[in-house]
Amino acid sequence: MSIVTHTTTPFAGQRPGTSGLRKKVTVFQQPGYLENFVQALFDGLEGTSGQTLVVGGDGRFHNRVAVQVIIRMAAAQGFGRVLVGQGGILSTPAVSCVIRKHGAYGGIVLSASHNPGGPDGDFGIKYNVGNGGPAPEKITEGIYTRSQTITQYRSSDAANIDIENLGTRQVEGMTVEVIDSVADYAALMAECFDFDAIRRVFANGFTMRFDAMGAVGGPYAKAILEGTLGAPKGTVVNGEPLEDFGGHHPDPNPVNAHDLIEHMASADAPDFGAASDGDADRNMIVGRKFPVAPSDSLALLAAHATVAPRYRKGIAGIARSMPTSTAADRVAKALGVPCYETPTGWKFFGNLLDAGKVTLCGEESYGTGSDHVREKDGLWAVLFWLNILAATGKSVESLVRAHWAKYGRNYYSRHDYEAVDTAKADALMAALRAKLPSLVGQVLEGQKVAIADDFSYTDPIDGSVSSKQGVRLIFENGSRVVFRLSGTGTEGATLRVYLEKYEPEVAHQSIETQAALASLIAVAQQVAGITAHTGRNEPSVVT
Ligand code: G1P
Ligand code: ZN
Repeated sequence: MSIVTHTTTPFAGQRPGTSGLRKKVTVFQQPGYLENFVQALFDGLEGTSGQTLVVGGDGRFHNRVAVQVIIRMAAAQGFGRVLVGQGGILSTPAVSCVIRKHGAYGGIVLSASHNPGGPDGDFGIKYNVGNGGPAPEKITEGIYTRSQTITQYRSSDAANIDIENLGTRQVEGMTVEVIDSVADYAALMAECFDFDAIRRVFANGFTMRFDAMGAVGGPYAKAILEGTLGAPKGTVVNGEPLEDFGGHHPDPNPVNAHDLIEHMASADAPDFGAASDGDADRNMIVGRKFPVAPSDSLALLAAHATVAPRYRKGIAGIARSMPTSTAADRVAKALGVPCYETPTGWKFFGNLLDAGKVTLCGEESYGTGSDHVREKDGLWAVLFWLNILAATGKSVESLVRAHWAKYGRNYYSRHDYEAVDTAKADALMAALRAKLPSLVGQVLEGQKVAIADDFSYTDPIDGSVSSKQGVRLIFENGSRVVFRLSGTGTEGATLRVYLEKYEPEVAHQSIETQAALASLIAVAQQVAGITAHTGRNEPSVVT
């Protein structure tokens, strides 16, 4: 065994965003491609000698190949130890958990989240730092810059090692520990929630369906729900992580997880339904005939947080991304804790969590989490709901309706226009930005515009400023229309239009969501000229 320096050509890498570098599998299969990224990452890290690196992924096609490449390169870099999930498997929240628990230097997550997998699907790589969260922009920018000029990478010439069986192996002077993918994460969940109470409701016949969508959530959900908590076998469906997710698009929303939505509306629907995405950081909560909006889920978890042992003493604060509904703000106000509004993306929660300013955070895009790790966490949200259902004895629907009765209902929907021509999408946003000053004070569909701006965020901890984070129209009655372009799409541009209307009266809280938002949908068209700019009459996805 020896360390070999290979020459390579710089690649025109996509600038890795918060979700890392995402490309087609075929791109990652090019010789030296993954290696360039990993070397560019390692070159920017200081003091890695003898340190611990965590490596794991969502099990999609190319996962195992990439794990072996990273192990060989970590050995050449001089890491002392690599902790790798058995079979190369670790969910994104599990990587965060393992980094924190073992005091690792950092970790590498192999995933393209909810993007389709398989030989023709997507692959991705992302670096997380010592707090367990996604690398901040100065690190991702550094990786990008170096990847453009890199001409060499260093790797051990060792053969592939056994990552299928638990145990300790050596590569050069480095130890590789193949760890149980679930154990550390399961232990953390048992600290967060009242497992005895949840076990009792399952023992009393409570029924549930957890749809892991053929992705990495399966082993975690099976071990915890069917194993530790005693839910009947078969509670977890699509529970085997498959290299192509069974051909599905593992994104837990009512469109991609329509099987679950249909099942929850059928005669033999269980009491509770939930789903998680490709790397198990997103979640969807569904009652009988009753999907829960993610923004409502965050607000409801905050309102009931003290039923869970980890949050027994109350929460320090809440953070939500700007487009997420203001339902959580109302709960924060009632609890007398702050609610922070951050730009879209989980990385903006990191500083607030590290500083102890917030305990819970969430996004409208089916992401919820807390200070227990530094990633959003799908199964954590599901267990939190189970804890609340067990503590209150109420159904999902009655809990949500009681919440609306107390705080009012924030009708909410997101309309996505996918694969729009990039130039056309940019032109739409530019035209919208240009007319913002003229919109203030205008009456649109009977509502007066109070604020029309482009969201800018100053991080309260490090003072960094993130501007141009989305155009928002806020009406005097609190209704909002927000426009932004996706930062994670792989094809053209995706325009996201977020619509929110507040309804305090119980008598008016049972209107169908799109009907309740009809006037705001009309405002969005009128103000942004969506059809005129994009040629689209309808959004491609409504959630
Ligand atoms: C999307 C979601 C955002 C989430 C991100 C990563 O980003 O909207 O809330 O943090 O995926 O899961 P977008 O495509 O909108 O930039
Ligand atoms: Zn994900």
